Amino acid sequence: MARTYDISKKQNYIRSLYCKEDDKFHDIFQTANDKKNIQLSPEEGKLLSMLLTIHQSKYVLELGTLIGYSCCWIASSLPKDGKVITLEVDENRHKIAKQNFAKMPFANKITTINDDAIDFLKTLKLDYKLDAVFIDAKKDDYPLYLELVYPFLKAGGLIIADNTLLFGTVFEDSMPKYHKKWQAIKDFNFHLSNQQKYKSLILPTSDGLTVSIKL
Ligand SMILES: C[S@@+](CC[C@H](N)C(=O)[O-])C[C@H]1O[C@@H](n2cnc3c(N)ncnc32)[C@H](O)[C@@H]1O
Repeated sequence: MARTYDISKKQNYIRSLYCKEDDKFHDIFQTANDKKNIQLSPEEGKLLSMLLTIHQSKYVLELGTLIGYSCCWIASSLPKDGKVITLEVDENRHKIAKQNFAKMPFANKITTINDDAIDFLKTLKLDYKLDAVFIDAKKDDYPLYLELVYPFLKAGGLIIADNTLLFGTVFEDSMPKYHKKWQAIKDFNFHLSNQQKYKSLILPTSDGLTVSIKL
C-alpha cells in the first residue's frame, strides 16, 4: 500500500546510515552541490559503486566527469589494478576534477581526459575490453555514445546511464521545448529495450538510472 511521508527525511535517514563512508570525497559533493552542479547524489554514487563491486568491474569508462564526484565512487570500487577513464569537455571542470583526484588514495586508477566524448570515442583504441561504462554527458548524444561504446564493451558488460527519465518528461507524448534531448533519451531507452542484445531496467531514482547488461 502506498504511504505518504517526508521524502527528504527518508533520504537523510538512508544517507546518514549508508553514505557516511563517503567522507573522503564528501567535499567534492559539497562543492558541486553549492554551485548547483548536476552530480549524482550520494545514494546514487553508492549504488553505482555497489553495482561495479558486485559486477567485479575492472575497466570502466565514464562520459561526463564534471568535478569528479561520480568518478570517485567508481574508482573507489575498483580492484588494485582497476582503471577508469573519465571524459570531460569543459576545460575548467576537467582541471578542478584533476586537482580533486590528486587528493584521493585511488588517484592512480583514474585517467582524466579533456575532450569531447564523441571525438574521443571515434578515435579510441583499447587493448582490453571495458567491463562497464557510465554515461552522464550530453543527453542529446546518448544514442551515439551507446553505438560508439558498444564494440569496446565486453559481453556481460554493464551500461549505466543517468537522467534516463529526463526530468520526468521521457514518458510524455511530446516535449517540444526539449525536443532533441527528449527524442534522444527516448531512442536510447528504446534501443536498450532490445532483449536480444540487452537486459535492462531504469531504476526510478530522482531522474532515472539505467542499468543494462550487454548480452
Ligand atoms: C551531469 S554532469 C556529470 C556529473 C558527474 N558524472 C557526477 O555525477 O559527478 C555532465 C558533464 O558532462 C560534460 N559534457 C557534456 N557534453 C560532453 C561531451 N560531449 N563530452 C564530454 N563531456 C561532456 C559537461 O560539461 C558536464 O560537466
